[in-house]
Amino acid sequence: MYNEKVMDHFMHPRNVGEIENPDGVGQVGNPVCGDIMKIFLRIKDGRIEDIKFKTFGCGAAIATSSMITELVRGKTLDEAMTISNKVVAEALGGLPPQKLHCSNLAADALHAAIEDYKRKRVS
Ligand code: FES
Repeated sequence: MYNEKVMDHFMHPRNVGEIENPDGVGQVGNPVCGDIMKIFLRIKDGRIEDIKFKTFGCGAAIATSSMITELVRGKTLDEAMTISNKVVAEALGGLPPQKLHCSNLAADALHAAIEDYKRKRVS
């Protein structure tokens, strides 16, 4: 059901883990299935210097988490905010239609982590 690229990111996910004292953290749950994703950010000079994730979820959720960490590393926060679930799914060469909802987690968790970083900087 998954293509080779999705399987590769599922079997060998990149950037799994946590960042100690992260600059931003985003956690989202998928109401459809109950799966959870958490993203940790290290920001330097307005760019994503490091990113790690922890995902309790299906193959598509893990593959999209892994892919999004590769897509946004080194990007500015504004650039990272433009990464949508569609961009992630396309970077993976597509997901089965019934798994598209899973790709929302990665983009939503990333955006939540960036918002968290911005909130912390203001307060
Ligand atoms: Fe839950 Fe895919 S089935 S994120």
